[in-house]
Amino acid sequence: MTDVAERLEELRDRGLYRRLRLIDGPQGPQVRLGGRQVLLLCSNNYLGLADHPQVREAAAEAAMRWGAGAGASRLVSGNMEPHRALEGRLAEFKGYEAALLFGSGYLANTGVIAALAGAGEVVFSDQLNHASIVDGCRLSRAETFVYRHGDLEHLAWGLREAGGRGSLIVTDGVFSMDGDVAPLMGLVELAREHGCRLMVDEAHGTGAVGPGGRGAVAAAGLGDEVDVIVGTLGKALGSYGAYACADAETVDLLLNTARPFVFSTAPPPPSVAAAAAALELVSSDRVQRLRENAARFRAALATEGLDTGRSQTQIVPIEVGDAGPTMELCERLLEQGVFAQGIRPPTVPEGSSRLRFTVMATHRPTELERAAKLVGSAARELGVAIPQTAAA
Ligand SMILES: Cc1ncc(COP(=O)(O)O)c(C=O)c1O
Repeated sequence: MTDVAERLEELRDRGLYRRLRLIDGPQGPQVRLGGRQVLLLCSNNYLGLADHPQVREAAAEAAMRWGAGAGASRLVSGNMEPHRALEGRLAEFKGYEAALLFGSGYLANTGVIAALAGAGEVVFSDQLNHASIVDGCRLSRAETFVYRHGDLEHLAWGLREAGGRGSLIVTDGVFSMDGDVAPLMGLVELAREHGCRLMVDEAHGTGAVGPGGRGAVAAAGLGDEVDVIVGTLGKALGSYGAYACADAETVDLLLNTARPFVFSTAPPPPSVAAAAAALELVSSDRVQRLRENAARFRAALATEGLDTGRSQTQIVPIEVGDAGPTMELCERLLEQGVFAQGIRPPTVPEGSSRLRFTVMATHRPTELERAAKLVGSAARELGVAIPQTAAA
């Protein structure tokens, strides 16, 4: 057995040791960290709803009316009106027959994939899918074919090779570390052609992209052509928990067989009520502000000679490469009042450590422009993240 201390030492040696930072107060566009006010550029509270007074009040009221916890799994005695009501609203919002709540996006992805694919079948998963999808594929016991990021030809080849054993194609809608969008139209076509289900994880799409914040699938005009949508309540919806949307029969199957649903306590009523209140506050105005802020921030970083890769959304990465210099840049920016956590393997592939900036609708344009300037000068001082052509 490997010694715990040795394993921690190895993480330190590789620059991959992580520690917690303590935020003092709610998730606003600025937060208190280490006794100082800093600009928060790494929260998924995209629409500023986690700290919105109506959302906080809804959670408080639900705690008084329904209690702090659900007390049991939904199938035992934990099923309450707030669960039913939110599922109804989510299904309507996404344009599906039914929805089912899960404890978190991680649980939803592992549960849904394992319920829809099994031994002897093949699941097709984008190379840059979130870890919870990767783990769902592992738990399903199906064979997993990992196709190159967004590469429809590679996927088509894999589907042909599977010779009819393909059961599920799964992809992030908006990719969590790069901020690009999956080629959804092509995925729908391949899924139809090969008789596979398509599942899209809208963790970073819901409330952030598409008409009225309905997500990347709605943005692509594919409302009812994606079989299952998973989303989280923990990002733009400012709460905690998750959901899957599908036709009523598929949701019934999930309710009966998705293990994280069956064998886990129902989401707490205050979180559910908070998400329901947040959903009512998702508006085209807020989504538009988020989109404009993201475009402004990307443009300001580009003016500094920084490359934001494939980003088209509120997730804006600056790739540094190695873990050490990434964390140096992160700490340097923190000293200057800009908080963007460094992201290292295994969250991103080896050699692609980065600062992953996330923009909120509640940031002021001047804050974003000032932050981009600070990122530019810190990157130049440290000699990182500036493409050769810009540095020359
Ligand atoms: C694409 C994606 N899916 C799922 C999750 C997990 O969601 P949750 O935080 O609700 O567990 C995340 C969050 O980190 C994510 O980025």
